Amino acid sequence: MTSVALYTFAHGAAGAAELGSALGFDARQIDVHTFPDGESLVRVPSVPDTAIVYCPLDRPNEKLIALMLAADAFRRGGARRLVLVAPYLCYMRQDKAFHAGEAVSQQAVSRLLSACFDRVVTVDAHLHRVSSIGEVFPGIEADNLLAAKAIAHFAAEKGHGKQTIVLGPDEESVQWVAQLADELGARHAVGRKIRRGDQDVEIEFPDDPDVAGNPVLVVDDIVSSGGTILSAVSAMKERGAATIHVAVTHALFGKAVEEKILFAGASAIWSTTSVPHQTNTISLAGILAEVLRRELNE
Ligand code: R5P
Repeated sequence: MTSVALYTFAHGAAGAAELGSALGFDARQIDVHTFPDGESLVRVPSVPDTAIVYCPLDRPNEKLIALMLAADAFRRGGARRLVLVAPYLCYMRQDKAFHAGEAVSQQAVSRLLSACFDRVVTVDAHLHRVSSIGEVFPGIEADNLLAAKAIAHFAAEKGHGKQTIVLGPDEESVQWVAQLADELGARHAVGRKIRRGDQDVEIEFPDDPDVAGNPVLVVDDIVSSGGTILSAVSAMKERGAATIHVAVTHALFGKAVEEKILFAGASAIWSTTSVPHQTNTISLAGILAEVLRRELNE
């Protein structure tokens, strides 16, 4: 019989514990020792046939190195299959060289992960100019799960329904916004984003969504500098929305940005557990466990 075990690093402990209880086993911690010169020594606590490694890839640079070293340790120990669960997958936005001399980070990072793992499982990967996760990881198995159902379930519990206008800040967000609106039986609209700098963002919204007096759920896959969501929240406040909630899959922002969003008019910010964050309210353990069960049966 094949042995399967779940692993994580210190930063992923909470999400891995939830995933472990959905799958029926404990998550074991991979130890990372940092030498005074900044190099890392990685030790895996055991080696099964299949190792599932849970690792949210926010602030990714050191985490990518730790993953690469952990994969090496598992392979050396005899693991036959390595599955990476990265509910937030980093570097997906740089999917082309926008200016001469730039790296295409999406491809460079996917090459690194493909060399280490046999399967990658992620959620709401930021796919814009590529249409599927299979194109990002052509040589290995890859699953891109959608958080819309989990977000819709939570938003419905908080009172959102057919009166709500689900609003996305730009054309790219229509993929998340339309599905979420569908789940809620609500209307949706997306704006057109003009970005002048990291925090300098202007969004034009169509006139037709009937915002005044209605609840609005502003949705995006990523909130990072907060420029995009701040601009959307301010526009909805100006148009007289009855209430404004923000739902985001990947919360990459700090406390100061959170305060600005609330000050601009949002009454709450809800995020999924893809990135450990103070706004986490929507667990992804259920949808991740569903696609990982086949690892237990193989
Ligand atoms: C961009 O295409 C994404 O979907 C997000 O809208 C963007 O990453 C948000 O970034 P920020 O919070 O820095 O405006």
